[in-house]
Amino acid sequence: MYKEKLKFNSDGKFVILQVSDAQDMHIPRSGMFKMLNKFYDKINPDLIVLTGDNILGNHINDAPIGNRQNVKTKKGTLKRMKKALGYLLKPIEKRKIPFAFVYGNHDDRNCVTKKEQAEIYGTYDYCVPFNLENDKVDCDTYNVPIYSSDSDKLAYNIWMIDSAGADDNGDNCFEYVKPEAIEWYENKSKELEKENGSPVMSLMFQHIPVPQTKELFVQCDENDKLAVKGREGKFYKLDPDKASGFAFEYAETTSEDFGQLDAIRRRGDVCALVFGHDHINCFTAEIDGVNIVQTPGASFRSYGNMVSRGVRVFELDENDTSTFKTYTISYFDLYGKKFSSIMRYIMNADEYEKIKAVLVALSAVIGISLVTYICSVFHLFTRFLY
Ligand SMILES: [Fe+2]
Repeated sequence: MYKEKLKFNSDGKFVILQVSDAQDMHIPRSGMFKMLNKFYDKINPDLIVLTGDNILGNHINDAPIGNRQNVKTKKGTLKRMKKALGYLLKPIEKRKIPFAFVYGNHDDRNCVTKKEQAEIYGTYDYCVPFNLENDKVDCDTYNVPIYSSDSDKLAYNIWMIDSAGADDNGDNCFEYVKPEAIEWYENKSKELEKENGSPVMSLMFQHIPVPQTKELFVQCDENDKLAVKGREGKFYKLDPDKASGFAFEYAETTSEDFGQLDAIRRRGDVCALVFGHDHINCFTAEIDGVNIVQTPGASFRSYGNMVSRGVRVFELDENDTSTFKTYTISYFDLYGKKFSSIMRYIMNADEYEKIKAVLVALSAVIGISLVTYICSVFHLFTRFLY
């Protein structure tokens, strides 16, 4: 685990790269990892935050084709999980970038518990310390302090909050921020303020959006070009008066709220509450005085689209910690729309599986026809010679 203190750089800046819903497996889609590696080199962040559904845990035991489970032992699951996490974490480790993680609703939907999975994360030298001591909250509910560039004074804080989980059978059993986690946040926030002499400003990351995120959507006509299907056959769109960005799906939020936004308002030290989970939504907004940031998914194995797949960047400034800059960069922002990048996208992205199958079949037919043709020509040629 990472043993150094995270500090603002000498120019007073600190850059965070958020990777959400990487959601891949032990046999990876290389398109996403090539994209992520290029982002790491381009942005050169001081911290990477992985905001859940870091692996597709509920399909980790599946056969290569179809959903038949061909791994039946926990040892087998762990082996695949280590391999899947390796594809995500080794490139970060290789670049010596500290990283923090929370889980999503897919990570632990198998026989490996959150704590057991955290042990795998903990074997990486650049994994910042997560919660190993407080049994009242999950191991992925913790804070990451960032210190001043020129002293040991605490200058900023990152909250990592668990918002999802599964039971022992791998089924969803709760998808909300537990009251204990909210209580822990308030107490820790007060503790940091006391130690520091003033509130420590922060960003708070969790996988699943809070239920109030639905307030950012307004009901609309089915034919509205921005309409997305909500529950009970109704259609909604992101309210342009409340949020800025895009939404290709209605907010899928935690099932319950135990006063998280109220606690954040009371403490007044969270610059923004940041979510993943809704892969094709990307916006910033404000709900009752709390800044909300929705980050799209990176995964090529799960759903996404040409404008959504990518990462989000946060730029912090030590000299003004009450605010921050944020922006997203998509796959096509990074590569441009060139033939090679479009082909790589199609060959990797989940929604082009059928096209990919047709392209592979077509290539095979062309290949076989070519070999048959060459063989016939060669055969004719040898007959002519002898
Ligand atoms: Fe999710």
